[in-house]
Amino acid sequence: MPDPLETIPWQPPSVLPRHIAVIMDGNGRWAQKQDRPRIEGHRHGVASVRRTVEECVRLNIAQLTLYCLSSENWKRPQLELDFLMHLLEQYMIEERSLLMQQGVRVSVIGRRDGIPDSVMGEIETTIEMTSRNDRTRLCLAINYGGRSELVDAVRTIARQVRDNRLDPDSIDEQVIAQSLYTANMPDPDLLIRTAGEMRISNFLLWQISYAELWVTEKTWPEFEVSDLQAALVEYAKRERRFGGLSEGP
Ligand code: IPE
Ligand code: IPE
Ligand code: MG
Repeated sequence: MPDPLETIPWQPPSVLPRHIAVIMDGNGRWAQKQDRPRIEGHRHGVASVRRTVEECVRLNIAQLTLYCLSSENWKRPQLELDFLMHLLEQYMIEERSLLMQQGVRVSVIGRRDGIPDSVMGEIETTIEMTSRNDRTRLCLAINYGGRSELVDAVRTIARQVRDNRLDPDSIDEQVIAQSLYTANMPDPDLLIRTAGEMRISNFLLWQISYAELWVTEKTWPEFEVSDLQAALVEYAKRERRFGGLSEGP
């Protein structure tokens, strides 16, 4: 007889994050564990992306931001980088119809240089095609670095000051936030990292100032819907004080 508990669908907690950001780490270690080349880990990671996006849509999460390639990842062997670019291009082509069906709107943050034109073209086609979708926003961080984002924001602001379009005294947190790649996006409420490292690796430095952190030992290819659900349950238990005091009993 089936366990009656297993037949009850998972009930999401009443408090859900508006924006979930994920550092998808551990693809290489996953592959290593099975004696396979690192790229196999990246290939399997795509299935984890698919199920995570699907669950976020189902739960009506407003935004999911995935760290796909950091500005520091260019230090990796050319063969691995070529494969990552190929995978990105394939994802953009193959997932398009599913993303449309699910009403997902795709956007990208990061610097465009270094991304081959063919890959950039497919990314742009997907962004354009999904631009009128109004369910979960899927933001892909590609060639993204938190520090280079801040450099780019400072340059934008400096140009506005130089051209007398902005008074330095009116620069505040909002001006800075609006000059980042993430302008008009809410800050992440929950930051998930897979594969156990307790670090940020240059991801969304400004935006995660009050994000709740959740780290799992599981590698990204092993990440399942039940892991996302566990993170959401844990998130719902956290007391977010934003520097204030506890509401108390
Ligand atoms: C994350 O997995 C994917 C990218 C950074 C592109 P890794 O490739 O970093 O896997 P590990 O950390 O070496 O196991
Ligand atoms: C972070 O993972 C970048 C992505 C997941 C794309 P890394 O594997 O690059 O991070 P470090 O090198 O362990 O800090
Ligand atoms: Mg890694």
